[in-house]
Amino acid sequence: MSKLIVVLGVSGKQGGSVARQFCKDPLWKVRGVSRHPASASNREHIANGAEIVEGDFANKDSLVAAFQGAHAIFASTDFWTIFRDPANTAKPALGQTLNEWAYDLEVQQGQNTVDAAASVLNTLELFIWSTLAPARKISNGKWSWVFHFDSRAAVEEYIKEKQPVLSGKTSYFLPGTFVSNFNHLWKPAIQPDGSYVLTVPGPLSIPQYWFDAARDTGVCVEALIKAPPETKLLCYSDRGSVDEAVKIWGEVKGVEARLEHRPFEEWALDWPDNDFRREIGEMMMWLGEYDYAEPKKDPMLVHSVELGLTGKVASLRDALTRVSGPA
Ligand SMILES: NC(=O)c1ccc[n+]([C@@H]2O[C@H](COP(=O)([O-])OP(=O)(O)OC[C@H]3O[C@@H](n4cnc5c(N)ncnc54)[C@H](OP(=O)(O)O)[C@@H]3O)[C@@H](O)[C@H]2O)c1
Repeated sequence: MSKLIVVLGVSGKQGGSVARQFCKDPLWKVRGVSRHPASASNREHIANGAEIVEGDFANKDSLVAAFQGAHAIFASTDFWTIFRDPANTAKPALGQTLNEWAYDLEVQQGQNTVDAAASVLNTLELFIWSTLAPARKISNGKWSWVFHFDSRAAVEEYIKEKQPVLSGKTSYFLPGTFVSNFNHLWKPAIQPDGSYVLTVPGPLSIPQYWFDAARDTGVCVEALIKAPPETKLLCYSDRGSVDEAVKIWGEVKGVEARLEHRPFEEWALDWPDNDFRREIGEMMMWLGEYDYAEPKKDPMLVHSVELGLTGKVASLRDALTRVSGPA
């Protein structure tokens, strides 16, 4: 008899990849959860054989209903959906930033997801939480505005501290830096001489772990399901500097491209929105100073190569060729 995997964020990059991967496997049935089951991306999953049900991270009962009969759950919430929703702009309390408010809400949504998963322990074999590193803690408070990392890490802590039984059935998916960032946030800008420049704050000299989330989350989740619970999988193909990545981006686009570094305060002036630029700028400063996951300090952590994923996840060059559009 086939098993059931329930996928949150099924219409997005990570969840979409999981649904596509498991729809190909006759041993699994896929149930995706979305606020908009009839959307175009969900119709693609339905055509592949997935069931799509309506659910909202904000509504725990909808998640409990969606999780009925699940053997595996892939769970990824999204800080940016909350942050970008114009309806939320005026919601923070006096003196509270939108970033702080979005952090609180994403943590609450993550806790709803965890508590709902804990209600189906009779069938559940593995809960997979899409996590990120606790940037503030690792930097001893130096970078305190990387709320979209800290929110994921806070939910990981919640699982370990408040849901001990579920914790024993949980593994963590830690995706590297998305290559799709080169479509927007990290897209080099054209210069008057026709060359392209990506300007980043600080030295950003630590090599990044590059990952094509929309293509490869599925194979990584498949590997996690075969691994023992309480595994944290750092998923990536190549590890390399942003400098090298920009050069490869230029090569695959057939243009000259280079990286330029600016002091944080100077770089931030180019960005139109204060709260957004501080969140992104501090993330880049953190990424440039700390190894993404402090692997040596986390006994749970394994790299994708250790779970046999070499060759199954796209190389940076292939991913850049596919995910980023014209220069
Ligand atoms: N960019 C990077 O380098 C990087 C690296 C590691 C991790 N991340 C993290 O990855 C996350 C984004 O993941 P992604 O790119 O896979 O997402 P995405 O493609 O932006 O899609 C977001 C998904 O979240 C779902 N969603 C949002 N709010 C929901 C709610 N209240 N209830 C139910 N579903 C909801 C949406 O579903 P519906 O609209 O269908 O409901 C959609 O499927 C971000 O939080 C980011 O911090 C990014």
